[in-house]
Order: sequence, then C-alpha cells, then structure tokens
Amino acid sequence: MAELKTILISLAMASAVQAGAIQQRAASKTQPNWFQTSPDNYAGTTETGAAPFLAQTNPAPFGQATYVPNAPLETSEPIKGAKGRNIFQLMGDQSPYFSPEDGFGVDEYPLPKGANITQMHMLHRHGSRYPSASEGLSSWAADIAAASKNGTGFTGKLEFLNDWTYNLGEEILVPVGRQELFDSGVLNYYNYGHLYQNNTKIVARTTLQSRMLESCENFLAGFFGLGWRNHANILATIDSAVTGDYACTNELTTLEESIEIPVGTWMETYLANKTAQFKALAGSYDWSVTDTYHAQSLCPYETISVGYSPFCELFDYEEWQGYEYLMDIEFAAMSGFLSPTGRAQGIYWVEEFLSRVEGHFVDIPANQTGCNMTLDTNPVTFPLNQTLYLEFTHDANIIAVLTAFGLTQFNDFLPLTGPKKNQQYSTSKLVPFGGRLNIEIIKAPHKVSTKRSSKQTKSGDYIAGTGETLYVHFIQNQRTIPLHSSFKACEYREDGWCELSTFMNVQKKSVADAEYNYACFGNWTMKSYGAVRNGVPA
Ligand SMILES: *[C@@H]1O[C@H](CO)[C@@H](O)[C@H](O)[C@H]1NC(C)=O
Ligand SMILES: *[C@@H]1O[C@H](CO)[C@@H](O)[C@H](O)[C@H]1NC(C)=O
Ligand SMILES: *[C@@H]1O[C@H](CO)[C@@H](O)[C@H](O)[C@H]1NC(C)=O
Ligand SMILES: *[C@@H]1O[C@H](CO)[C@@H](O)[C@H](O)[C@H]1NC(C)=O
Ligand SMILES: *[C@@H]1O[C@H](CO)[C@@H](O)[C@H](O)[C@H]1NC(C)=O
Ligand SMILES: *[C@@H]1O[C@H](CO)[C@@H](O)[C@H](O)[C@H]1NC(C)=O
Ligand SMILES: *[C@@H]1O[C@H](CO)[C@@H](O)[C@H](O)[C@H]1NC(C)=O
Ligand SMILES: *[C@@H]1O[C@H](CO)[C@@H](O)[C@H](O)[C@H]1NC(C)=O
Repeated sequence: MAELKTILISLAMASAVQAGAIQQRAASKTQPNWFQTSPDNYAGTTETGAAPFLAQTNPAPFGQATYVPNAPLETSEPIKGAKGRNIFQLMGDQSPYFSPEDGFGVDEYPLPKGANITQMHMLHRHGSRYPSASEGLSSWAADIAAASKNGTGFTGKLEFLNDWTYNLGEEILVPVGRQELFDSGVLNYYNYGHLYQNNTKIVARTTLQSRMLESCENFLAGFFGLGWRNHANILATIDSAVTGDYACTNELTTLEESIEIPVGTWMETYLANKTAQFKALAGSYDWSVTDTYHAQSLCPYETISVGYSPFCELFDYEEWQGYEYLMDIEFAAMSGFLSPTGRAQGIYWVEEFLSRVEGHFVDIPANQTGCNMTLDTNPVTFPLNQTLYLEFTHDANIIAVLTAFGLTQFNDFLPLTGPKKNQQYSTSKLVPFGGRLNIEIIKAPHKVSTKRSSKQTKSGDYIAGTGETLYVHFIQNQRTIPLHSSFKACEYREDGWCELSTFMNVQKKSVADAEYNYACFGNWTMKSYGAVRNGVPA
C-alpha cells in the first residue's frame, strides 16, 4: 500500500513537471492544435438519404384500441406472436436506444445521505445511423430492382417489392440518432451536471468519423446547451473505421473464422423456413437465406431512416428473437469473450480509466495495451483534473471494454443450435444505438451496508464504526451491472457496487489477462467457433 502511494506521489509530481513543460511549449506555439475538428478529412462516407415523408407513407393506425402516434418512429405495427413485446429491442446493435426493463440482475438504490458521487466516467456509442456499404443492403436493393425490371413478379407478402425503392444514405447519423445523443446529454446533465466545475473546459474524446464527431457534438449540446464550446473541447482522433488501420492486426485476420462462419450457420437455421416460404413468392428470382436476412435488416434500417418499414411485419416474434441471437453471436465473437482478441481490443480504455481514477498518466508500455502514449502522457490531451470524463466510440469497443474489465457475467457460450435459457449476454441490452456505460465513483462517510432493500432509515444504510469508503458503480444503459456477479473479490451487494480499493486490486490483473501483444500480433492458429471462451486466443 505504501509502495502504491509512493508511486502515485511520484507520478503526480512527474505530471506537474510535465504540465509546466507543456505550458512552455504552448507558449512557444509548439503544442499542436489538438481540438481542431474542421476541416475534417477523416469524416468517412457521408452519403445522406432521402428526406422522409412519414405523414404520407405511414400506414398506421393498425387497429389498436387506442391511437399510438409515431414518436418519432412508427413502431406500432402488429408483429405475429409479439403479445405486446417490442421487436425493436431485439435488433442487437441496430436497436434504437432503450434502457432494459429487466436490468442485469440487481435493482437500483438511492445514494445514502452524506455520500457523494465524486467522478463519472462515460463511454458512449454513437446514435442511430444509416447502414454501411459492407452490410450489402444497397446492392441487394439493386438486385431486387433488376429482377423486377426483368419481369420477376414478386407475389403475396413480397408483392410490395415490385415497386419498392431503396433510398437510404450511408454511415452518418439519421435524425433519431442525433436525438438519442442530445437526449442523453440532457439526461446526463440532470444526473451529473453538478460535477461540472463552472468556468472550466473539459476534454471530451471522440473520433473524426462523421457520426462519431456529431454524436459528441449533439451530446454536448444536450448537456451544456448550444454554447457548449465554452465548456468543452473535443479531442477527435483519426478513426480506424475510416482508414482501415486496425491497431490489433489479428482481429482482422481472424474475422472470417471467428464470426462469418458461426453467424452464417445460425442464419441458415433460424431463417430456413422463412426462406422456403419467400422463395415460393419470388418468381424466377433465386431467393436465398441471405435475401431473407437482408429483408429482415431493412426493418431496423428503414425505420430509423425514413420512420416506417414494411419489412418489419414480414417476420414473426420468434424470427426477431433469432435476429437478436445472430447479433449476440456476432458481437460476442467479434469483441466479447468468444473473440480471441476481445480483451486485447478493450484493454486500452480500461487502463486509461484506472489511470484517471488513480490520478496519473498511463504508465504501462503501449505494447501491452495499445494506448496512444503521445496522447495519454500529455495533460492537454489526457487531463487528470476532471470529474467528468466523456468519450464516444463504437459498439464493438464498448463490448471489448466490458470484456477487458473481465465482466464474466457476460461470458455465456452461445451454441449455434439456439439460445440457452438465462443467457446474460445480449447485444441489444448492452450496445443499442446510443448505448452507454456510466461509471460512478462514490465517496461514503462509512461503509454502506450490503443490504439496501430493507426498510431502514437512511442513516441505517451505514455500518457503525467504519470509516470513509469509496465505491465503484457500473451502469449500462441506466441499469446497474452488479460487480459481484463477475468478481469474487467484490462482496455480494444488493446495489451491485464494489469497494473501489477491492476493484482496483482486481483490475491489476486485467493487463496480463488481455495478452495484448500475443493476441494482436502473435502467431497463433484460430480454432473453430467455441474454442475461445475467455476473450484471448485458445
Ligand atoms: C432476366 O431474366 C432472364 C430470363 O429469365 C434470365 O436469364 C436473366 O438472368 C435475368 N436477368 C436478371 C438481371 O435477373
Ligand atoms: C457560471 O459562471 C458564469 C460566469 O462566471 C456565471 O454567470 C454563472 O452564473 C455560473 N453558473 C453557475 C451554475 O454557477
Ligand atoms: C484542468 O486544467 C486545465 C489547465 O490548467 C484547465 O484549462 C482546465 O479548465 C482544468 N479543468 C478542470 C475541470 O478543472
Ligand atoms: C420449420 O418448419 C418445420 C416444419 O413445419 C418445423 O418443425 C420447425 O420447427 C420450423 N423451424 C423453425 C425454426 O421455425
Ligand atoms: C515492449 O517493448 C519493450 C521495449 O519498448 C520491450 O522491452 C518489451 O519486451 C516489449 N513487450 C512485449 C510484450 O513485447
Ligand atoms: C497518437 O495520436 C496522435 C494524435 O492523434 C497521432 O498523430 C499518432 O499517430 C498516434 N500514435 C500512434 C502510435 O497511433
Ligand atoms: C459530501 O459533500 C458534502 C457537501 O460538499 C460534504 O459536506 C460531505 O463531507 C461530503 N461527504 C463525503 C463523504 O466526503
Ligand atoms: C507461425 O506458426 C506456424 C505453425 O506453427 C509456422 O508454420 C509459421 O512458420 C509461423 N509463422 C511465423 C511468421 O512465425
């Protein structure tokens, strides 16, 4: 403990020395203009889609007892077998933002009187966006149009395809995506506005990719108002999704074996019957399982882009559960515990978080974390004096970060024959569009009782005779992730928190557990789906 303290003090001094040096460099104008975000040569694809006309195209109402207005999307169409359940929460990373009603295993509790939230660290996904070209929807649409033109008559439920046109953009935020981030800024201001210290400028991190930068800007506008530039600087780095330069080399080389094969297998299983049905309605067009999948994907994408999609009703509730499971397999195998590079992909943020909590620069070599040491050792780009740390990123990164923390609650194996009962991992519950992880650091005057639900007085929340205690509280999409479910060292608590010192101790292992260098650059052989269960090469 004394040793840790010495290290912390010497690091704090090192940072003070460095801060002085930086000021000097800034005075001599050699500090780069870190916070310039335009002109932007790294925005990526920015194709916009057709303007919606929902007042004209919406076939609602659908005969419900009471009128359900669009809000703003039309999602009240009847789905066979849904019984009131919402298919828009079964679309994996294509689900519009929602907070999961059934949570992650514990309930929420108010802070005991006298305890304070002292820091909030947030990792936020961008909002709803148009599909990317790699999802194949625009080329599928061209094939369908060519087939219709060529005299293929689609019939029955597919008849609308004869004069359907595809008019979505690519990759940038759709209007509801802007709203998700603005709303989240407003929500986070209500929750944490007090943590912003007046007359300071905080650094918010994102990338220069269009949807990422605009997500950050919309959030800040919601949080601070349109004058947000007086309160925050944006540090936007070049996004590997734009340049294709992934830091973790093996992540790319193992994609086919680790994702495409299992996803393809499950797709052929859950969509077999629907494909046979649609093939019979497709005339001379050779309708395959991929066609069925593209038709299903158009439901979320058309809905978020133009407000309503006729594709949604083509599928029953069970087929939407199949869609969710496909997304579960895809993301668990891309960046979660079923991915050989899952922990490695997320370890950089875990280390940055732990460093901020301890109040020092990242001090672990880059070849063990993938951190950018130019940024992470400069007080201008890696400030340590904030109480609010805001960062915007991609779905896969958030899954990877949860994996790198070692949240084994989400390490379910996902058999290709179909979901098991009580599966904990869910892509839509973790990373819907606009999904976010909020981590609170809580300072309490005494230890807080592990039992929170009994009808005690507020002061009864504390354990008599104990001293000041710090806690960490993980919140994903407004629901607590109970830390005791993943870490034995964290005692069982009804509120799901963990003592900060215990948590920091647990996390000392996370760099070694991630095997960054070996996982990303080692010469190992990818084994078939199922061999990897712990986010590192099998
Ligand atoms: C058009 O139809 C003809 C005759 O059925 C077929 O040979 C050809 O491949 C079709 N072309 C397209 C683009 O579907
Ligand atoms: C923040 O500072 C400005 C300028 O000093 C002041 O006008 C404003 O009232 C302060 N806001 C709060 C919430 O303290
Ligand atoms: C942190 O320090 C920098 C540099 O002195 C300052 O510009 C910034 O406002 C400070 N931020 C906070 C939150 O105090
Ligand atoms: C497909 O149809 C067969 C025969 O009707 C049925 O036994 C099977 O359960 C169906 N499969 C799915 C995934 O719905
Ligand atoms: C990381 O780099 C250092 C030198 O910069 C080297 O000594 C060390 O072996 C490297 N570690 C790994 C895991 O490659
Ligand atoms: C670190 O970030 C800086 C600023 O974005 C960039 O110029 C540099 O190339 C990055 N370094 C590495 C190793 O990625
Ligand atoms: C919480 O904040 C209040 C008001 O600033 C302060 O009086 C109290 O001592 C703080 N509690 C702890 C445990 O630091
Ligand atoms: C990687 O390992 C394989 C099998 O052990 C071996 O054949 C190959 O030469 C190795 N490649 C490199 C670059 O070391």
